[in-house]
Amino acid sequence: KAYVVAILGATGAVGTRMIEQLEQSTIPVKEIHLLASSRSAGKTLTFKGQPVTVEEATPDSFNGVDLVLASAGGAVSAKLLPEAVKRGAVCVDNTSHFRMDDSVPLVVPEVNPDALNHHNGIIADPNCSTIQMMMALEPVRRAFGLRRIIVSTYQAASGAGQSAINELEDEAQDYLAGKQMSARVLPVKGAARHYPLAFNLLPQIDVFEEDGYTHEEWKMIHETKKIMLGDKNSPAIKVTATCVRVPVPIAHGESVWFEVGAGNTPSADELRAVMAKFSGLVVQDDPAHQVYPQPINAAGSRATFVGRVRPDQETPGAYNLWVVADNLLKGAAWNAVQIAEELVARDLVRVPAGAAAKFC
Ligand code: A2P
Repeated sequence: KAYVVAILGATGAVGTRMIEQLEQSTIPVKEIHLLASSRSAGKTLTFKGQPVTVEEATPDSFNGVDLVLASAGGAVSAKLLPEAVKRGAVCVDNTSHFRMDDSVPLVVPEVNPDALNHHNGIIADPNCSTIQMMMALEPVRRAFGLRRIIVSTYQAASGAGQSAINELEDEAQDYLAGKQMSARVLPVKGAARHYPLAFNLLPQIDVFEEDGYTHEEWKMIHETKKIMLGDKNSPAIKVTATCVRVPVPIAHGESVWFEVGAGNTPSADELRAVMAKFSGLVVQDDPAHQVYPQPINAAGSRATFVGRVRPDQETPGAYNLWVVADNLLKGAAWNAVQIAEELVARDLVRVPAGAAAKFC
């Protein structure tokens, strides 16, 4: 069986990588539709060496489509994915719009693939920062339990899209040329104030909530609970987060402090051993030889890299680690294509009867 696939947001930072990851995937593609805004309609991209004309995305773009990979922003997904589901297409959505919907599975294929079995036409790809943290901690959780997470992120500009990568490069050039840097995109598109990222750090990713946390931090807390425990509000794992944008183009880093299940005190070697066996996770942890994960090396790779694993010297059962992954690949496009591969393998590329009504 071969599938008609549409990529929504095909011209963006994640969309272009969805095309590339789909080209390299095991999914048999019969026909491809590359969809974006009217600004890109008529542009030519390629799929498996063949030219494909970009079309403006409208509800009717999904007629006859089996599978949609979407990364065109939350508002676009909110409007168009229910239309796609109504037309019988199964959608893997990289935006945050549907992630907390109880009828939408939120999936990291190495962690909770069985959540796919109960989909209603839309499956959500988790936040990039959440995905790589789940990759590092799920083997720990399975072997030793997991009670608490305190995470600080070091997030690349590309998480805010192609325009943020361009802005970082322009600012760096201006700074080195002794010119004034001008910011229009970061920290958040459409916000009242913008700040340069080059030679700087921005402790704001996404908008602020009333409680003083950013929405990115909120996502890491509740997505972790939904993925690991199946309940976005479960108190069984306590999570808190500080999310920071750093002047790196691609690949996020995270410093994670975590506490394993009560009474367990595995050694760092025991933690590394369970991590090394986990599919998709690569241990790079050799302080004696200065080996540890770095964004510059992780960019372009599907894997998640973990290192600096060490016990908290004063709190038995607590540990620190450092985890890095390409936010556009494992954090977005590859995780989405991997979900699609899993849907194909499980013969789940079909919308259950009556499911479309859940999103209309
Ligand atoms: P376009 O290139 O035509 O603006 P990024 O995350 O890198 O900013 O990319 C966003 C993606 O979402 C782009 O492919 C962009 O297309 C697409 N997009 C933005 N607005 C819309 C819209 N209203 N309908 C369809 N696609 C959209």
